Amino acid sequence: MSVAPHIKEQMSSSSFIRKMFEEGVQMKKEFGAENVYDFSIGNPDLEPPAKVKEMLVTLGHSDIPGMHGYMPNAGYPETRAAMAEKVSKEQGVPVDFSHIVMSVGAAGAMNSVLKAVLAPGDEVLVPSPYFVEYGHYVRNHGGILKPVPTAGDFSLDLTAIESALSPKTAALIINSPNNPTGKIYTKQDIASLAEILEKHRKTSGRSVVIIADEPYRAIVYNNAAVAPVFPVWPSSVIVTSFAKDLSLPGERIGYAAVNPAAPDASELIDAVIFATRILGFVNAPAAFQRIVAACWNEPVDYSLYESRRNTLMSILRNAEIPFFEPEGAFYLFCRVPESRKTPNKNDDRAFCGHLKKYHILGVPGSGFGKEGWFRLAYCVPERTISGSAQAFKNAAGEW
Ligand SMILES: Cc1ncc(COP(=O)(O)O)c(C=O)c1O
Repeated sequence: MSVAPHIKEQMSSSSFIRKMFEEGVQMKKEFGAENVYDFSIGNPDLEPPAKVKEMLVTLGHSDIPGMHGYMPNAGYPETRAAMAEKVSKEQGVPVDFSHIVMSVGAAGAMNSVLKAVLAPGDEVLVPSPYFVEYGHYVRNHGGILKPVPTAGDFSLDLTAIESALSPKTAALIINSPNNPTGKIYTKQDIASLAEILEKHRKTSGRSVVIIADEPYRAIVYNNAAVAPVFPVWPSSVIVTSFAKDLSLPGERIGYAAVNPAAPDASELIDAVIFATRILGFVNAPAAFQRIVAACWNEPVDYSLYESRRNTLMSILRNAEIPFFEPEGAFYLFCRVPESRKTPNKNDDRAFCGHLKKYHILGVPGSGFGKEGWFRLAYCVPERTISGSAQAFKNAAGEW
């Protein structure tokens, strides 16, 4: 036996999104792509800004000495400076290049930060439902993920968070706009969260690190704003990437930004850089560091996602499938409708299996820690959404 038992266990319990994705590929071959409504995966279908391609061409023809060589583990100083400008604007506090560590996507940044802050047995809180990979990332570094249910509208349940804090709590992950719900936490909730953590710090002596996972920060509707964490809680780190806002998930480019006000900021930055090295990332992809330094501020028309959201919401209303209206990101979190055939049957896995018969692919909410719900990713072509209307109606009618 060569595969460790705990890895086997993790593989079998959590590969459902990928499984859906692969089933989708198979179904498209069998029934034709236009007859399959694949809402399974958050792979943005908008093309990256034109400047990304122009920069790729320019870089391909350039002969900057050493452009394919190793670099400092934290990344190119010019790229870090550009990211610092971005973070300063978003957070409303001055951040300089030394607080930025370039990473292999948001996932790479999250792993480096967790590696830096977790001791074996430490706990990490996360409002639930949550991005399924967090459990693995925390376990990678000897930690224990503790999901804390959110309120009925998916806002932070501050009382539940307060009761979940313990002397073992090392970090709290917040993800706003949220995957899978599309919820954006209010400025007031973030301020109250900081107050709770300060109270906890005074009694336990431990300053819990907020890790704000923000790959969807730019994708918001109705001019919503994502509240910054740096001004209210010093022990905080942003992890993010250009996977969603610039549609570059395959290029694996992101960064971690450490709050300059953190009590041990420079030690924490050094630890995140060290973790980037010893986890084997070594540094973020070289070419895309140059590209995002030049393209991070390119305008992108996210209203396309908004119109897709609106189309899908009206299809779901018509099919009498209840959902939470997303404030950002590109996911619709839906409640399994009342079954006409078997009352009280709200099994999300069974419902996603039922949807498949109508060629609709969605992801069961239990994978995100929320039974009785399912997620639809609407970063798909408009025709996939409009084409799915009858299928949703039939599926809900026959449930
Ligand atoms: C909430 C959240 N965090 C992190 C990631 C990972 O992002 P990346 O591809 O940049 O590693 C994703 C990807 O879907 C996500 O939804």
